[in-house]
Amino acid sequence: MNILENLKWRYATKKFDKTRKISSSDVEKLKEAVQLSVSSYGLQLYKVLIVENPEIREKLRAASYDQAQLTDASQIFVFCNYTEYKNENVDEFIKLTASTQGIDEEVLKGYSDFMKGTLSSIPSEGYKVWTAKQTYIALSTLIAAASELKIDTCPMEGFDSQAYNKILGLDEKGLNAAVIVAAGFRSEADEYQFKKKVRKPLDKLFEII
Ligand SMILES: Cc1cc2nc3c(=O)[nH]c(=O)nc-3n(C[C@H](O)[C@H](O)[C@H](O)COP(=O)(O)O)c2cc1C
Repeated sequence: MNILENLKWRYATKKFDKTRKISSSDVEKLKEAVQLSVSSYGLQLYKVLIVENPEIREKLRAASYDQAQLTDASQIFVFCNYTEYKNENVDEFIKLTASTQGIDEEVLKGYSDFMKGTLSSIPSEGYKVWTAKQTYIALSTLIAAASELKIDTCPMEGFDSQAYNKILGLDEKGLNAAVIVAAGFRSEADEYQFKKKVRKPLDKLFEII
């Protein structure tokens, strides 16, 4: 089972090799993996910024406790969740479903009304938390896909999301930086690659009932 080998190979990379860049064809594969990720109702209530610009990355590093991954990785994926419920998010999804699957939008009206009713009744704070949770699922898909391509990653939430929202102009787009992934190639000098993985034993992690 390759995925287990890949998951053993990967680790949260602290030092990236600044000189190595992910090929554009691999970036496309990573984007497709994120696109295929599961999400509640399939709504994908997030947007992913791929930050390459060095000046912006310096600013992000300053807002991330000076963590070196921000400037040294090949790309920074910033997973941003939509912060407010909007009927148009459901309408867009229904249109996309109808056109993709060749069905009449009217057929989906009941489902659309059900989603609108459920989502609009979530209190605003809870809605933000719920959409932020969705980004973590996509993050996990990205990391697993990257490991298959032998691309190193570091998931990160050690940053000031309000500062990110300012730097990246997210507030005005109704978005919030929830979590990020630095992606690239490990430096030979990163001692973390040699550390044994620390994981709970299976009998502590699972219980069969
Ligand atoms: C949501 C999330 C946030 C994390 N934030 C950071 C971070 O800000 N900086 C960092 O170096 N590692 C961060 N990590 C990496 C974890 O510390 C790491 O995954 C964990 O210790 C297990 O080690 P491994 O990934 O090397 O197996 C984060 C991991 C996750 C899942």
